[in-house]
Amino acid sequence: MAEASIPLLDVRGVSKRFPGVQALDDVRFELRQGEVHVLLGENGAGKSTLMKILSGACARDAGIVRIDGRACALSSPREAQQAGISTIYQEFNLVSHLTAADNIFLGREARRMPGIVNRRTQRRDARHLLGALGSSIDPDARVADLTVAEQQMVEVAKALSLDAKILIMDEPTSALTESEIEQLFAAIRRLTARGGGVIYISHRLEELSRIGDRATVLRDGRYVATLPLPAPIPDLVRLMANRDIAQHYPPRTRTRGEMILEVRDVARGTRLRGVSFTLHRGEILGVAGLLGAGRTELARVIGGADRAERGQLLLGGRPLAVRAPSDAIHAGIGLVPEDRKRHGFVAACSVAANVALPQLVRLSRAGVVDRARERALATRWIEHLRIKTPGPSTSVSALSGGNQQKVVLAKWLALGAGVLIVDEPTRGIDVAARMEIYQLLDRLAVDGAGILMISSDLPEVLGMSDRILVMHQGRVAAEFDHREATHEGVLHAALGLAS
Ligand SMILES: Nc1ncnc2c1ncn2[C@@H]1O[C@H](COP(=O)(O)OP(=O)(O)OP(=O)(O)O)[C@@H](O)[C@H]1O
Ligand SMILES: [Mg+2]
Repeated sequence: MAEASIPLLDVRGVSKRFPGVQALDDVRFELRQGEVHVLLGENGAGKSTLMKILSGACARDAGIVRIDGRACALSSPREAQQAGISTIYQEFNLVSHLTAADNIFLGREARRMPGIVNRRTQRRDARHLLGALGSSIDPDARVADLTVAEQQMVEVAKALSLDAKILIMDEPTSALTESEIEQLFAAIRRLTARGGGVIYISHRLEELSRIGDRATVLRDGRYVATLPLPAPIPDLVRLMANRDIAQHYPPRTRTRGEMILEVRDVARGTRLRGVSFTLHRGEILGVAGLLGAGRTELARVIGGADRAERGQLLLGGRPLAVRAPSDAIHAGIGLVPEDRKRHGFVAACSVAANVALPQLVRLSRAGVVDRARERALATRWIEHLRIKTPGPSTSVSALSGGNQQKVVLAKWLALGAGVLIVDEPTRGIDVAARMEIYQLLDRLAVDGAGILMISSDLPEVLGMSDRILVMHQGRVAAEFDHREATHEGVLHAALGLAS
């Protein structure tokens, strides 16, 4: 049949300009029935912009989009939805004061009678959808009370519930751990088996060949190539970055010094149920664990974002009371939070102001911030981390997701804290910048900082840590020296299977 050769989605000559940047320039893209097509590119390459155009959230300046051979304007989200396109956004689109179930069915509530939402049906359907993803989130939980990974699950459930023909996933696994990713992939395969197509964006290159059929690479808003998967990772990296990037972790030349932080039986609520460990100067201590294991709660308590209900912190041997983030900063403890959109940056402020924020006092003379020094500091970090921005005075809200992440990292790395807690430091960050971040963390440790690195990226935990703590249900389930840690061993402990 002739029809079989018509792609599900055919994008040609699409361009989009924002003030100061050509985000997309004459881009093409094709999605076939039953295909998972991966979209690749460095931070700021234009991936999300293309997806926003396809989901009707953003208007294109030029180009043609055909769905099943028919040209579509896609001038509103409703029109895109009617055309069968459903999207999981990189920056979540959930309403935080509503429940998980309400969010999943927002705008198309189950009704028994006009005007009356049938909550029982909704709750049942939501539980069913989440269950199919292997998630046990309570449909009645308020989204504001969920972790980032749980919110991501709600987003995925919502997108799947729309029964879309074309599903766009902009970094769906960035907050998920191995077992959740497996569930998500199973859901994706069910969808493609029905003839649907999936556009998949991720910076976790190892997972792409597990799920993708083809990949298209964008660089600086331009189309570079389309190739079949699996493909060697170095080849993909070269296409994305237009240069070779050595992909290895910094050699461990660090030497472990005196103890800098001691955490004794710290507990808070049901998620953190008594954790003790020590952190030394010159050491990178990795923290692994599944979603909900209590890792972020631990970070927040040490960083002063939440108060411990029990237990004690000792810094350099002396008891330390952290009641607020400012106490922690004052004591030399920096926290790069996991949920950077909510806690990491001030979107309306410039890149420079954000980078300088924790050290305004240091950059001020007689109470007035020295703007030239602020700018110089930001310019240096824009180069270090290759932050893609028109300049230091651009507001953070105009940056791509990954570049916003880099700004948050820069802010804390620039401070040079003695204890640095990084929660998912490379989430959403492209390969090139990822290697820079590894180098920077290593250098900070070599210079005497103690680093607590929480990460769901197991290769990263194994590659970077000197020691690894594995958390399970609010407690430390196991501790490994890097010489004895294995993928299986860590996973085993994370699942709560005693060794
Ligand atoms: N609303 C906006 N206003 C101004 N510039 C924008 C806006 N949205 C995106 N841009 C710019 O367009 C370019 C492409 O951004 P986009 O978000 O599409 O990148 P991306 O490939 O999704 O990157 P990432 O991997 O970091 O998510 C970037 O230079 C970004 O700064
Ligand atoms: Mg993006």
